[in-house]
Amino acid sequence: MTKIRIAVQKSGRLNEDSLAILKDCGISIDNGKDQLKATARNFPLEVFYLRNGDIPQYLRDGVVDIAIIGENVLVEKGQDISVVEKLNFSKCRVSLAVPKGVKYNSVKDLEGKKIATSYPNTVNEYLKSKGVTADLHIINGSVEIAPNIGLADGICDIVSSGSTLFKNNLKEVDVILTSEAVLAVSPTISKERLEILKKIQFRIKSVLQARQ
Ligand code: PRP
Ligand code: MG
Repeated sequence: MTKIRIAVQKSGRLNEDSLAILKDCGISIDNGKDQLKATARNFPLEVFYLRNGDIPQYLRDGVVDIAIIGENVLVEKGQDISVVEKLNFSKCRVSLAVPKGVKYNSVKDLEGKKIATSYPNTVNEYLKSKGVTADLHIINGSVEIAPNIGLADGICDIVSSGSTLFKNNLKEVDVILTSEAVLAVSPTISKERLEILKKIQFRIKSVLQARQ
């Protein structure tokens, strides 16, 4: 029997809520956090646990058919990937932040400055739209430490509760985008799997309605 293949974040902020929404949809998955792949017991679905940043490419290549992913990742790496449902969890912002003591009136203050980020495309697009040129330092995690160790003048990263910024003595000065978890679809999904997707979407809609 044909199964739909869904990508879910392997570990991190979206992982738990992604599995929870599948569960609320009545889909039971054998819990295999250490496995990279799991099969649903009562629905034609396979789960692939993947790194967030890799998911857009897996969708593009048709290695998976659908994914639960943050909009922020699609803005950064998957603007060609379509979204069929917003899932109303993992809400966050992608924001610019600078050290608390630094004066900041507008993004123009970052002209010629160093910005540390894991979201180079998102930042570049934003800076370009504002006519600002800055020097980006691409790092994959713990971005907020960069200004404190003299690596950058400011950062651009995900802000959720704001506690990481607070702990690192930074202030959020510009929200570039807001994001939540979404259901994204591979451009190459087959007709047969599209029918399975419709069933999942129907269930997700009811779950989201019931949660309100
Ligand atoms: C993410 C993100 C921010 C932080 C934001 O990091 O990169 O640093 O969460 O959340 P907050 O506003 O609630 O503090 P994460 O801890 O997932 O790890 P990483 O940076 O190493 O990827
Ligand atoms: Mg972080």
